[in-house]
Amino acid sequence: AALRSSNTKAYFCHELSQCLYDFVLQLLPTAEELDVKEDVRKLLEKLIQTLEPSSRLLSFGSTANGFSLRNSDMDLCCLIDAKERPNASDLVQLVGDLLKRETKFEVKPLPHARIPIVKLSLSATDGLPFGIACDIGFENRLALENTRLLYSYACIDPTRVRIMVLFLKVWSKRRKINSPYRGTLSSYGYVLLVIYFLVHVKNPPVLPNLQQIPPLQPITHEEMHIGEHNIWFFDDVETLRQRWRSQNHESVAELLIDFFKYYSRDFLYNTGVASIRAGLLKKESKGWLNEPDPRGGRYQDLAQERNRLCIEDPFENDYNVARCVTRDGLYLIRGEFMRASRILLHRPERAITSLAELCA
Ligand code: CTP
Ligand code: MG
Repeated sequence: AALRSSNTKAYFCHELSQCLYDFVLQLLPTAEELDVKEDVRKLLEKLIQTLEPSSRLLSFGSTANGFSLRNSDMDLCCLIDAKERPNASDLVQLVGDLLKRETKFEVKPLPHARIPIVKLSLSATDGLPFGIACDIGFENRLALENTRLLYSYACIDPTRVRIMVLFLKVWSKRRKINSPYRGTLSSYGYVLLVIYFLVHVKNPPVLPNLQQIPPLQPITHEEMHIGEHNIWFFDDVETLRQRWRSQNHESVAELLIDFFKYYSRDFLYNTGVASIRAGLLKKESKGWLNEPDPRGGRYQDLAQERNRLCIEDPFENDYNVARCVTRDGLYLIRGEFMRASRILLHRPERAITSLAELCA
């Protein structure tokens, strides 16, 4: 009976979980869209192989990490196994020219970007109502590994993890706080915040820390590293599922409410670093402070913007995934976390009302 009286927390969470599930389900890519994308990948791979026969084109990002929404961009990474290969900038130019000649894509090579890429787009047609947007990068092996890591986390607890992440992606896009170019956080950053919360904040944890589980068989230093970066994590999800069960049985709605509460008021923004590898770290110990830049002027302004929000990349540990988040951006993001928290505490008659208001 208590479950039925509409204003109890238990009843609200029960309804909201169902709403979240239905909401996310209708935003997933269709089988047709996935097929088209796979065809595009194969076609581009064949073309690039005419330049470099040993090359492979692999998906990373949302198309490969289990957190893909309808019409999301494709992130592709080209690996070339040959010993002698042009550098990334030259490759971007070469591949860009090739694809301009051989395909109908609109092609934009960005050889001088921090990470050189070729940008491709195809405008909407009948068969492809939203067109396609795709970035091709080169030799970005760490991105392939962090994609695999996120995918493994998604597989451990597919329902709760996927719904939370997909909902946050949609929500952050609708609330306009998912844009590193405009001082807010990338989807990748939000995914890391969710995993950090489920591994290190929730007690008992919803997810194990895959980077701290030792290998079943000894593996070599080479297998464990890319350059100086330790890329080890326990990726045998089947074995893990037999040996590890979360003692946390909260519903996805309860977790989401708690997520917003935690990032509205508990996370230590001023001093803390969220690390899914190692838990809560200190900005000080990583040297991620707003140190004055001796060059002054514009450099000083930039330095003051850096490291407002700190999220350690799981493998590239000296890289702050949230380094693009500015002071104003963080103010917006925290404001949105608080707004979401407030809306979810209201508990109106119908949970769907909260969901609609959250994403309004
Ligand atoms: N990535 C990264 N470092 C960043 C941003 C992104 O290594 N600072 C890599 C990650 O491998 C990530 C991929 O680029 O999975 C794509 O990032 P992003 O576009 O932010 O995430 P998606 O899951 O693709 O989300 P969306 O659907 O919004 O494109
Ligand atoms: Mg993407």
